[in-house]
Amino acid sequence: MERITVANARRAETVGQQVRVQGWIRTRRDSKGGFSFLEVNDGSCMANIQVIADADLGNYESEIKKLSAGCSVTVDGEVKESGGKQATEILAKTVIVHGWADPDEFPLQKKRHSFEKLREWAHLRPRTNTFGAVARVRNCVCRSIHNFFQEDGFLYVHTPIITASDCEGAGEMFKVTTLDLDSPPKSDGKIDFSHDFFDRPSYLTVSGQLEAEIYATALGKVYTFGPTFRAENSNTSRHLAEFWMVEPEMAFYELEDNMELAESFLKRIFGDVMDQCGEDMQFFNEHIDKTVLETLSGIVDSEFVRLPYTEAISLLEKSGQDFEYPVSWGTDLQSEHERFLTEQEFKSPVILYDYPSTIKPFYMKVNDDGKTVRAMDVLVPKVGEIIGGSQREHRLDVLESRMAEQHLNADDYWWYIDLRKFGTVPHSGFGLGLERAVQFVTGMANIRDVIPFPRTPGNAEF
Ligand code: 4AD
Ligand code: MG
Repeated sequence: MERITVANARRAETVGQQVRVQGWIRTRRDSKGGFSFLEVNDGSCMANIQVIADADLGNYESEIKKLSAGCSVTVDGEVKESGGKQATEILAKTVIVHGWADPDEFPLQKKRHSFEKLREWAHLRPRTNTFGAVARVRNCVCRSIHNFFQEDGFLYVHTPIITASDCEGAGEMFKVTTLDLDSPPKSDGKIDFSHDFFDRPSYLTVSGQLEAEIYATALGKVYTFGPTFRAENSNTSRHLAEFWMVEPEMAFYELEDNMELAESFLKRIFGDVMDQCGEDMQFFNEHIDKTVLETLSGIVDSEFVRLPYTEAISLLEKSGQDFEYPVSWGTDLQSEHERFLTEQEFKSPVILYDYPSTIKPFYMKVNDDGKTVRAMDVLVPKVGEIIGGSQREHRLDVLESRMAEQHLNADDYWWYIDLRKFGTVPHSGFGLGLERAVQFVTGMANIRDVIPFPRTPGNAEF
């Protein structure tokens, strides 16, 4: 007996084969003619396979007629051509029940629950159509990320999760410690970290960039892809305290090369999702956001807008829009501004670049004007910033003065400074927030619904 997925059992080519499918009951319907229809889902695709269970099966009355949503089963039988909407169905020879799901208790019955409610059931929500589809699309995005870089000669490097340095300089880091918080060792009234596990204050990383730079300046083109952590108290639909970031870093790349890479990278991901997740994307387009497919195919076929920050500010100032946060040169853009640019002004992704140095981290290359840095943010409709990156400052003296400006202790970054002392090269990179990318392609409104177990202020249940 060949064990196959529901996705395969649904193909017309399997008609006539004896197969085994295993999964969870979505619905049971009893026909007057003395048999039952079971809809079985195993997560391999959005659709279920219809199983016909005849009344002459040994456990028909005792078990099959008691099956309800959520029960787990193994079905052996023959794949038949179906008269219904689907191509195939299975005529069961045996139905083994592994686990029951009491219909009075199992929450995922016919009633539709809100996404907010489903967040309370993070252990059950992958059994719904939406969360199954999100999981498959997220997987496809990750595969596409690796394929894109691997095919282009990038080396996958693993940067540390625990670190002593604050890459973004924003001080939004979670501390990692084994000290007894009730009575930490102190000297001169301050906590004495020489007694801590790492002999120093250490944190969960906000970005693998600084370590990726080490590998890029030895091996050329690299990328790191892993979890990153931010202790910012942002309760928005686009922020998580734990999210996944993919960060390519390339020696000998200038900002223009970086922009080109970011654009072709995003187009590849969007194209792969449309090619490989047809059924799931159709679902998102019908039930979540009726514009996602049109938006994605429009983006894949057109050029991103490239706009200096200074021009963006004057566009926003002249827009006549009544923004909640006023804009002026030197302020960071809020999501209302980003949305105006991508959704109204250009109706396209926009790569904003050359930001004021005062609102960007120390490592970005300073432009000749002395006021702006070679930063680039890729903004997309609805989600806003999806990629943040830059050309890096590779000149030792400029880097050191930028660090001093931002009151960073050069001793803490001695190894980063060394890279500028020994064979320094122009180099660039960027970070794509995986969840923002999944949010964008699926049209899901809240970032908490595109990561299996969202961590946000006050939430770490599962
Ligand atoms: O713009 P960010 O902070 O850039 C960096 O961390 C750079 N070191 C990356 C690099 O150049 N290698 O973050 C990059 C991206 C953002 O554009 C956004 O997509 C995502 O990471 N991101 C978040 N996603 C979810 N929740 C958060 N709190 C996020 N913060 C950033
Ligand atoms: Mg950013």
